[in-house]
Amino acid sequence: MKLLASNPWCGHAISTVLGALLYSTEALASSTISSSPPFQSLYRRILSVGNRNPRVSVVPMLAQWVKEGRELKQPEIKDFIKQLRKSRRHSQALEVSEWMSDVMKHDLSPGDIAVRLDLISKVRGLQQAERYFDSIPYPFRVVQVYGSLLYCYARRKSVENAEITFGKMKELGFAKGFRDYNVMVSLFFGTGEYEKLHVLVEEMEEKNINYDIHTLKLRMLSESVLEGRTVGEDIDIAEESEQLIDNNTRKIGYGRLMTSHAVIGNKDEVYRIWDLHKNTLGFYNKRYQCMVNSLMKLGDIDGAEKIVQEWESGVKCYDIRIPNLLVTAYCRQGLFEKAKSYVEKLMESGKGNASTFLVLATEYHMNGHMGEAVEAMKNAAKMSSRPGWKFNHSTLYACLKYLKEKRDMKSALEILRLVGKKGNLPKGSWDKLENYVDGGQQQV
Ligand SMILES: *[C@@H]1O[C@H](CO)[C@@H](O)[C@H](O)[C@H]1NC(C)=O
Ligand SMILES: *[C@@H]1O[C@H](CO)[C@@H](O)[C@H](O)[C@H]1NC(C)=O
Ligand SMILES: *[C@@H]1O[C@H](CO)[C@@H](O)[C@H](O)[C@H]1NC(C)=O
Repeated sequence: MKLLASNPWCGHAISTVLGALLYSTEALASSTISSSPPFQSLYRRILSVGNRNPRVSVVPMLAQWVKEGRELKQPEIKDFIKQLRKSRRHSQALEVSEWMSDVMKHDLSPGDIAVRLDLISKVRGLQQAERYFDSIPYPFRVVQVYGSLLYCYARRKSVENAEITFGKMKELGFAKGFRDYNVMVSLFFGTGEYEKLHVLVEEMEEKNINYDIHTLKLRMLSESVLEGRTVGEDIDIAEESEQLIDNNTRKIGYGRLMTSHAVIGNKDEVYRIWDLHKNTLGFYNKRYQCMVNSLMKLGDIDGAEKIVQEWESGVKCYDIRIPNLLVTAYCRQGLFEKAKSYVEKLMESGKGNASTFLVLATEYHMNGHMGEAVEAMKNAAKMSSRPGWKFNHSTLYACLKYLKEKRDMKSALEILRLVGKKGNLPKGSWDKLENYVDGGQQQV
């Protein structure tokens, strides 16, 4: 297999490359078919043959055309490649691209090289694309070519390689626009690496990468997935979105999208995806849990409240974790009274259980309200709980420590006894804690 033309890196291509280094839009400009009718017929013939059989080679038809002494200019060949790519006939497009350089001896512009790289990765795989990239002389490794390599990695969710490439691009001053950043954003969305996403978004803000366009792209991404249509002319983005979320990963995919938007503070997007979700996916607990989590990240407590209410009115399979989340949400906003009365309501209706009180105790503890934490801990200890369920050790210890410091050994031992009785603490830990409360050394 021939990765390169005999020598496609010579002649006037150099000046084209230098032009591209100055951010020429040469590669982006689309040529139009301006040839005479006979050429149009070749054009139609090739496209129709290709449509009937995407595996058949279209090169012989082109070769025949040239052999008969008729003209076929490079812009026209490029147009073939473009059309074939558009209709996703990648292997035919690759063939024509190779024919253009190897047989017709046309120089490749950076745009052509970028396209070639993309096609190789699609048709022959990432490894071959890497080999091709390695064969490209340094002066030709310009912004479009790197961009194309980045896409190849992102499409395959090859995070590490994408990161290396992106780092290199930044080093070379190639990663300037939202488009390059957006590849990484989409990749991190797709792989659920929110911490990296967060860092990236911060970097974008720092560097003033146009955030609105970025948001728009993301919207396009999720919408195109949902409606199964491609976005404008931008095949790459559409393809990428299909890669990221398909029917099988839809539930997870949307959850991730929602969480990610929450991480970057994009409230409108969270709600928009939530609504999309609703229509396609129906009622299921995990979706509500994810939404409450997202709203918590956004500090949207009213929203979280409404969502939980909606959930409570429609739920078939009760999951205490969702109300517990709301308890946490209230506390994180400092609304402890609200949290407390909500917990009481849950207990009255018989829905809350030990885990609910424990959540409350933990939040009180984390906010330094130890008196209330102990109160909630006592209640948690009194409630029946599932065998094998474990108390949060750190919260429990904090409560015992507090009681010990207040010299209220009686309460401390009572809590410990209740917890120990139901086996909600590993025996070793229980012994240590008892020893601790009972005047032994602090050893937890
Ligand atoms: C996804 O599901 C929809 C309907 O549920 C169906 O029309 C569509 O063909 C599916 N897409 C794929 C790629 O399976
Ligand atoms: C609380 O109730 C849920 C059911 O809603 C159950 O799955 C969970 O194990 C219970 N927690 C405890 C600590 O018993
Ligand atoms: C246990 O409680 C500590 C604080 O007491 C908290 O930081 C931690 O997240 C809790 N763990 C779980 C699993 O809730």
